[in-house]
Amino acid sequence: EASMTEEAIKSNIRTIRDWPKPGINFRDVTTLFENADCFRAVIKSLVGWARERDLNCLAGIDARGFVLAGALAYELGLPLVLVRKKGKLPAETLSENYTLEYGQATIEVHNTDTIRGQRVLVIDDLLATGGTALAAIRLMRRLGAERVDFAAIINLSELPGQQLLHEDGIHTFALCN
Ligand code: PRP
Ligand code: ADE
Repeated sequence: EASMTEEAIKSNIRTIRDWPKPGINFRDVTTLFENADCFRAVIKSLVGWARERDLNCLAGIDARGFVLAGALAYELGLPLVLVRKKGKLPAETLSENYTLEYGQATIEVHNTDTIRGQRVLVIDDLLATGGTALAAIRLMRRLGAERVDFAAIINLSELPGQQLLHEDGIHTFALCN
């Protein structure tokens, strides 16, 4: 699987109109994950960017971010912290409330020592309003991260997420804009 163009990757992402609410064009990456060559090309590209960031820890966002973060953790040989939807983690947690494109939610992380003093990459499938990413970044900072980067397959560039992350001093990477 050689590198793929942005257009080739985009062609493997399905759009579901008016889901989960009227007016939302939902970018469905299940179709990308079902194409083995495309999935490998996406991981290869994320790994290439990540290698240049001198990282020492990864954090994956529930749920589709986990698929990407697991592959990156394996390939980079870095520890992986899971940022989960409320009520799923069994030990002591920190939580953050946030607003996203179609509602409100809470994410949580274990009160782990793994993040303290580290250069952390937060990974998700998609950046829209930035609500989810910024909540995950707040969690990383509360756990003592020295620096936080963010990577996703898709940046919905008509929404303000990437701009808000940049204003917060976060380096970002997206394959499709
Ligand atoms: C989607 C997506 C991101 C988030 C981005 O997940 O996977 O996590 O929305 O939106 P934002 O930039 O506006 O915050 P969703 O919350 O739908 O969760 P799911 O994993 O339960 O489908
Ligand atoms: N999260 C927020 N907005 C989204 C969209 N349009 N498609 C997929 N996930 C999203």
